[in-house]
Amino acid sequence: MKISLAFDVYGTLIDTGGVYDALQKKVGDKAKAFMETWRSKQLEYSFRRGLMQNYADFSVCTRNALDFACLQLNCNLSEEDKNELMSQYNILPAFGDVEESLVKLKAANCRLFAFSNGSAAAVKNLLQNAGIDHFFEAIVSVEAVKTFKPNPAVYDYFLQKTNTAKTNAWLISGNPFDVIGSISAGFRSVWVQRNPTAIFDPWEIKPTKIIRELNDLIKVLELE
Ligand code: LAC
Repeated sequence: MKISLAFDVYGTLIDTGGVYDALQKKVGDKAKAFMETWRSKQLEYSFRRGLMQNYADFSVCTRNALDFACLQLNCNLSEEDKNELMSQYNILPAFGDVEESLVKLKAANCRLFAFSNGSAAAVKNLLQNAGIDHFFEAIVSVEAVKTFKPNPAVYDYFLQKTNTAKTNAWLISGNPFDVIGSISAGFRSVWVQRNPTAIFDPWEIKPTKIIRELNDLIKVLELE
């Protein structure tokens, strides 16, 4: 039986740090703090909407978080500036190790999926733009379930949609909350710890495997 690899998109395949240059032009030396606030609020808003059962497209969370970051950091950006930054979010680059790893995993006969909080249309656009869309059998978006990771319903939806048995499912993510959520839902999961100082939440749930770059995935999945 082939294994199914569910790749998280933002922060795992696609580098959300790609907005940094655009941000630097608009907010100067506040760019790093801005980028971090924007990303963490985007995730918080998705979690809160999930709990509130008040789903809106992930891009709404991204836009609301952008407005929050402007207020928090006292950056008076125009509507046009904000729209430009939102457009930048649709054309973020893939991390440098992605293409080479996907080639190897495909050759090792894995089923590859992109599995994201983002809408299928937004993810398709991102992957196409980064030139990696052709590696994936399908894009699985939470939009069909109208809630967000780490709700167990979205991990179940992945299994159902891709016709994967739980025992054959691996979630690959740079986001600890996603790793913990998927393991809690019965998957095995690899945490991609790209940054050596990144902290994994000190809960009772640990990643099944930890890698520093995607090229190591094939080794830890014992596919070599
Ligand atoms: C995603 C976000 C959570 O792509 O990274 O699902």
